[in-house]
Amino acid sequence: MNSNAAIKGTAVVTGASAGIGMVYADRLAAQGYDLILVARRAERLNELAKRLSEQYGIRATALVEDLSRDAGVAAVVSAISADPSITMLVNNAGVATLAGFADTDFSKHEAMIDLNVNALVRLCYAVLPLFKQRDNGVLINIGSVLSLHTLPISTVYSGTKAFVTSFTRGLQQEVEGTNVNVQLVMPSATDTEIWDIAGVPVENLGKERVMSVDHLVDAALAGLAKGEAVTLPSVEDIRLWEEYDAAREKLFEATQSGKPASRYNIR
Ligand SMILES: NC(=O)c1ccc[n+]([C@@H]2O[C@H](COP(=O)([O-])OP(=O)(O)OC[C@H]3O[C@@H](n4cnc5c(N)ncnc54)[C@H](OP(=O)(O)O)[C@@H]3O)[C@@H](O)[C@H]2O)c1
Repeated sequence: MNSNAAIKGTAVVTGASAGIGMVYADRLAAQGYDLILVARRAERLNELAKRLSEQYGIRATALVEDLSRDAGVAAVVSAISADPSITMLVNNAGVATLAGFADTDFSKHEAMIDLNVNALVRLCYAVLPLFKQRDNGVLINIGSVLSLHTLPISTVYSGTKAFVTSFTRGLQQEVEGTNVNVQLVMPSATDTEIWDIAGVPVENLGKERVMSVDHLVDAALAGLAKGEAVTLPSVEDIRLWEEYDAAREKLFEATQSGKPASRYNIR
């Protein structure tokens, strides 16, 4: 372990064998974090752990587990809740099937809910008590802009990411006033394998709409360093988010009238 890692502690990165998670692993290793890398593909994960420990002088451990299965989640929970060196969790592992709800095998819907929702919640629950007790720690949940906008082919995926948004916003309120930091990152289209796996090749989106994975992670980490609670890396005018969030709050306030609206003519 290098001396920097002793200060930074250990970051857990799920979905580190590819795409966004792999770049998070690289950037966090460069910052001096020790790493616990989680995904299913052992060869990729072991190679990455070896490369990062050699390149940055940190300790990187590969935890080969399937987070869509209870046993896999339980194994990761037991590894991380027993480790007091953990100072950061990046809940990044996610999967998408982009196709009509009724036309898709239900097992694909379940796989999205199991990984994008259930595993994420359980891993948060594994680290947050310690973070709160220690009054220190960083939790990063990777959501999606598709939580703001549901397409006919993204009903379940958008639903899982809307859960991540609501859940993470709630956690942020729970840790308000502490030194525990909870960041919601909402990527837009990013050039990773997820698109091929989802059944929509990234080339179909149009180059100008797709961000490189390096840019996405570097912007998300810059947002974290700036203290952003919600990071929308591709949005130039962040007032759009502020206005959206203020409108949401105003709408909620308007629901608290305790009576049916006059347009229903109910006396
Ligand atoms: N790329 C985009 O355009 C985009 C946009 C918005 C949000 N996101 C979100 O960003 C996150 C990362 O996505 P990505 O684009 O980097 O996708 P990716 O390149 O497909 O990588 C997904 C990662 O998750 C891991 N994973 C998948 N199923 C798993 C399972 N059952 N158990 C454990 N690990 C599993 C994969 O590793 P193994 O296959 O080795 O298990 C891989 O490391 C996801 O939450 C995604 O929803 C992506």
